[in-house]
Amino acid sequence: MAVKEVQSILHPEYIREENDCIKAYGCKRIENASRLVFYSSYENEGTETTTTQAIRESSTRKKQNTRYYAHGIHDYKGKFNPQIVKALLNIFDIQPGQRVLDPFCGSGTSLFEIQLMGGVPYGVDINPMAVFIASTKTSVGNEVEACVNFNIDAFMTSVQDCRVDISGKTERMVYLRSWFREDYLRCLEAIRITAGNEKNESLRKLILLCASNIIREYSEQEPSDLRIRRRKSAYPEESLFHRFSAEFTAIQVKIAKMLEDNVGNVPKATIYNDSVVNIGGYKEYKNYFDFAVTSPPYATALPYIDTQRLSLVWLGLARPSEIIMLESSLIGSRELKRKSVAAELLTDLKTNANKISSASHYICMDLQNKLVPSDGFRKQNVPILLYRYISEMRAMFSSVYTVLKTGAYYCLVVGHNKTTIGGVTTYIDTPTLLCNEAAEQGFVVSEVLPLETYQRYGIHAQNAITNESLIVLQKQE
Ligand SMILES: C[S@@+](CC[C@H](N)C(=O)[O-])C[C@H]1O[C@@H](n2cnc3c(N)ncnc32)[C@H](O)[C@@H]1O
Repeated sequence: MAVKEVQSILHPEYIREENDCIKAYGCKRIENASRLVFYSSYENEGTETTTTQAIRESSTRKKQNTRYYAHGIHDYKGKFNPQIVKALLNIFDIQPGQRVLDPFCGSGTSLFEIQLMGGVPYGVDINPMAVFIASTKTSVGNEVEACVNFNIDAFMTSVQDCRVDISGKTERMVYLRSWFREDYLRCLEAIRITAGNEKNESLRKLILLCASNIIREYSEQEPSDLRIRRRKSAYPEESLFHRFSAEFTAIQVKIAKMLEDNVGNVPKATIYNDSVVNIGGYKEYKNYFDFAVTSPPYATALPYIDTQRLSLVWLGLARPSEIIMLESSLIGSRELKRKSVAAELLTDLKTNANKISSASHYICMDLQNKLVPSDGFRKQNVPILLYRYISEMRAMFSSVYTVLKTGAYYCLVVGHNKTTIGGVTTYIDTPTLLCNEAAEQGFVVSEVLPLETYQRYGIHAQNAITNESLIVLQKQE
């Protein structure tokens, strides 16, 4: 990718790789060199210049800082690597003012990177928590001074004076009482109510997200577990108010760096809380986007909703009784809405009711035929869940195809899967399967590039996908 980047934005006549640098000769667009992602500096006619990316990342000494500026707002499982997004925008030479779509935008990593280069970002995600984070992340860029000048100490004084009633019988309050100690719930509600008085919407959402990001540490849920389990570890010694102020201050420092680096105003982002499968039906977006980039959910994906249900309920984004339905509506979900769904999916698989490509269908059927009674209940569902995943991804390709301009590229960073069924481990080459589906929806598969391994979600290492490919599709000319 590093070489491709140099080729696409510098237009050199000749490139040579040398130890830890690349020598590019006869560059026709040398003025673009500061945009490079994978280089800390470049030298031209004897003058060495630091790249914009190196300046952005300079707030930490980490080898690769993925949390600079607003990227540091709130955790989200399976976050994209911002450097990969920026490199793709460079490689495809996306220009300021062009419209770029992320159809599984999650917490908005790509949307924020698109903004930083002057592109106009559009995002879709079915998870309301993702949309809340992404819309905040992409709005603080135009509210930097308000965020930086916000007086957190004065806010905390108001929080301490706030009168809180946690005795209500609403579904939300009953649920929150079952997951939080009374003193912590009072603190959280005081922050939420006080934040409600803040007129600046970006700032209000930023305050709420700083509290949401620490909510699990102070809940009855085991903070280190991906799934919801009752807490065994001790509560933090630091008070919730102190922890929250520290979280807010740390984000303020990251946002202040945008001011220091003269980022300036950024284009407005448009984000929909919807399924990607529906966007093909948005009439105003037919043949509309210049480029699309995404990291889609994996087959048998992370439980995005379950891991965030305390935040979803506390923020009022979902009712406790809606959580399971929401989880099962995600592409790649392992949840089945009802027991009967498994039987329906099995019939669909056997008859290939969704008309997925014959190669994908063969793999799902093969897994189904390998099942033995000793495979546990989760394993029994793997073939039908894979079938559902591929069917939905196929529908996604059709939808995204409709909204892209002719000739536009669509880049996806996709992981591989493997599963052990009937004692046999089967490697599932998801990128190739997805390419088959995309091709049948009219896309030309331009390239499939293995990406260097990087760990995407630290503490749940046993679930981590360490093997990913970049798929490049093009809407046919
Ligand atoms: C790998 S994550 C994307 C993470 C994102 N790139 C980021 O940096 O935060 C995949 C996302 O797909 C979303 N998703 C799953 N099914 C969806 C659907 N049918 N329509 C839109 N989004 C969906 C999930 O909610 C999740 O946020």
